[in-house]
Amino acid sequence: MIRIKHLSAHYQTVQGTVKATEDVAFDIFDNEILGIAGESGCGKTTLMKAIYGNVEPPMFIASGSIELEVEELGEQKIIPNHEIHRYWWDYISYIPQASMSVLNPVVRIKDQFLDSYLRAEVRALGKQALLDRMAAYLQELELPPEVLNAFPHQLSGGMRQRVIVALATFVHPKFVLADEPTTALDVVVQRGILTMLMNLQKQLHNTFVIVSHDMGVHYQITDRMVIMYAGKVAEIARTDVLFERPQHPYTEMLINSLPRVGDDQQRAGIGGRPPSLLNPPGGCRFADRCYLADAYCRQVQPDLVEVEPGHFVACLKRAPSLALTTTESSHRGDAGK
Ligand SMILES: Nc1ncnc2c1ncn2[C@@H]1O[C@H](COP(=O)(O)OP(=O)(O)OP(=O)(O)O)[C@@H](O)[C@H]1O
Ligand SMILES: [Mg+2]
Repeated sequence: MIRIKHLSAHYQTVQGTVKATEDVAFDIFDNEILGIAGESGCGKTTLMKAIYGNVEPPMFIASGSIELEVEELGEQKIIPNHEIHRYWWDYISYIPQASMSVLNPVVRIKDQFLDSYLRAEVRALGKQALLDRMAAYLQELELPPEVLNAFPHQLSGGMRQRVIVALATFVHPKFVLADEPTTALDVVVQRGILTMLMNLQKQLHNTFVIVSHDMGVHYQITDRMVIMYAGKVAEIARTDVLFERPQHPYTEMLINSLPRVGDDQQRAGIGGRPPSLLNPPGGCRFADRCYLADAYCRQVQPDLVEVEPGHFVACLKRAPSLALTTTESSHRGDAGK
């Protein structure tokens, strides 16, 4: 399990501090596909980097923490954020946004992985044995093992992404963080990758965290979702519950902007823009775009409140009575899965 405790991850810039995530708190459970959604710039990638323990200037943790629960030598241990890097790859792996451009164009696929990520495995097993295993694993995932000898530019975008997903799961990490794994790919290729992710999760019984701004992707594959808006968590719920009865007006708008089969109407986009994270407003950050907002919403920050078991919302209008009595437990986002 991963526990995110009131995390504020910021960037120090010449213009001031960009408050990319503020007081974010939820748990990520074993054996689930958790989706994180929200518009561009709402802090999804920042959150992923923080969870992965990959915090480098200008990013810094202003407050809060992350705990990774691991089992080592039969013992449960809680690993704090600054030590998570010791568990990279074996226990937690990360498929970064735009991972296609992360690959070095002049190095064959197999060498990128053997030399950078799988060094410990190379030491333990030897290079050839490991390559044989990788080839077998790719074949299991219906990928041609020859891709290992290819240079990145010899593969299509979709193929590259599938290879990256395959190799990121090769040593069966407990947690796989995937930042926009299907963005910029056409719908058919996207579907192939989503199916691959779902099958892998079923097979490995591990946890995938999928970041995407595309609600359609979340609807298809996630079990539970976290909706972010301007650096804060707006809503957490099981995916079916979220689509059936969204509570936050922002979630409603995200769902309503999805195209539907058999519907020729132009879908309403979301008017307006999120506030600057250099100087976010004091009250609810969504107030300026919200059809429910009043003067109170512009003054008071909503807390994340549990409105039904496992369903949390940060909206003064939708969860008003509890808004001022938030407890630690109401921040956890426990879906009881
Ligand atoms: N290296 C950086 N230096 C300064 N500000 C940054 C840096 N990286 C991100 N930010 C800012 O932090 C905020 C959150 O960015 P982040 O990349 O986490 O958003 P995102 O939700 O992943 O967006 P997208 O959907 O476009 O990938 C944005 O306002 C962004 O401009
Ligand atoms: Mg991003």
